[in-house]
Amino acid sequence: MVRFFHLFGAVALLPALVLGYSLPEACSGVCNNAHDPSIIRRSSDGTYFRFSTGGKIAVHTASSLSGPWTYQGAALPSGSSINLTGNQDLWAPDVFKLGSYYYLYYSVSSFGVQDSAIGVARSTSLDVGTWTDLGSTGVASSSTSGVAYNTIDGNFISDGSGNYFMTFGSFWQGIHRNGEVYQVAYDPSDSAMEGPFVFQYGSYYYLFFSKGQCCGYDSSMPPSGNEYRIMVCRSTSAVGPFVDQSGTSCRNGGGTVVLASHDWVYGPGGQGVYQDPTYGPVLYYHYVDTRIGYADGQKQFGWNKISFSTGWPVV
Ligand SMILES: *[C@@H]1O[C@H](CO)[C@@H](O)[C@H](O)[C@H]1NC(C)=O
Repeated sequence: MVRFFHLFGAVALLPALVLGYSLPEACSGVCNNAHDPSIIRRSSDGTYFRFSTGGKIAVHTASSLSGPWTYQGAALPSGSSINLTGNQDLWAPDVFKLGSYYYLYYSVSSFGVQDSAIGVARSTSLDVGTWTDLGSTGVASSSTSGVAYNTIDGNFISDGSGNYFMTFGSFWQGIHRNGEVYQVAYDPSDSAMEGPFVFQYGSYYYLFFSKGQCCGYDSSMPPSGNEYRIMVCRSTSAVGPFVDQSGTSCRNGGGTVVLASHDWVYGPGGQGVYQDPTYGPVLYYHYVDTRIGYADGQKQFGWNKISFSTGWPVV
């Protein structure tokens, strides 16, 4: 049985501290079309696959994390069988391997509504043309269902003991477990939290999430510090409770900034973490390159090596 939980949000505020972040590593080829990236490396030949929001889940491949990235097509060229508005767009891919299959979680939704579902497709190779849509995972919400949460941004987690979980959520409350709403992260003063990604490293599970205004900067710039940024809390358990570096619960406003706007990087988010055989743990994300432009279609693929030597991820 898949147990699952969910992340929620509302309105924002803490100005991100500007620290000495490293610049994104090099990227060549197609480095835009990279919203909410999910990275996986095919172990049989070392090819990197990048899945991203929109275009029925755009797929790019490269021989290295730095590129050159080449567009391969849509993972689900016919869209999703889930009967909801948005089923010809598809958001927030999360790709993982379990047994002999690669699985792709995707979201069917439309901007600012709660009529959403998390679907799943599978493939044995990752290649475009090999994905079979299996429809809804059953994790779904609607504006009339009376639930507080929104079912998008699914992320698969294994606890290493044969238990599997899904974190999900954005802009509507909560984390869920065993069919009951269990909220893993929430900030009563700023609920604009989304895109959870849990990464196990050493003896901890790190809950990464994005906070702030994600999108539409070209038409509406948020107050400085309220743009997207990447936060983290950690726990010794895959399902929490998660706390930040100062010990504040992630359910009560906690969250340590991992990466925020700096230099020509603006609004980094939609992140994931990948254990790369060459670079070790890598944080990947999309961001606005202020030298290029602020439109959603101009967002760039970024990645950095991260160090956990302090017990907390540092870019
Ligand atoms: C899809 O949903 C709409 C609205 O709820 C409904 O009218 C329609 O019959 C559904 N289509 C299918 C194929 O189930």
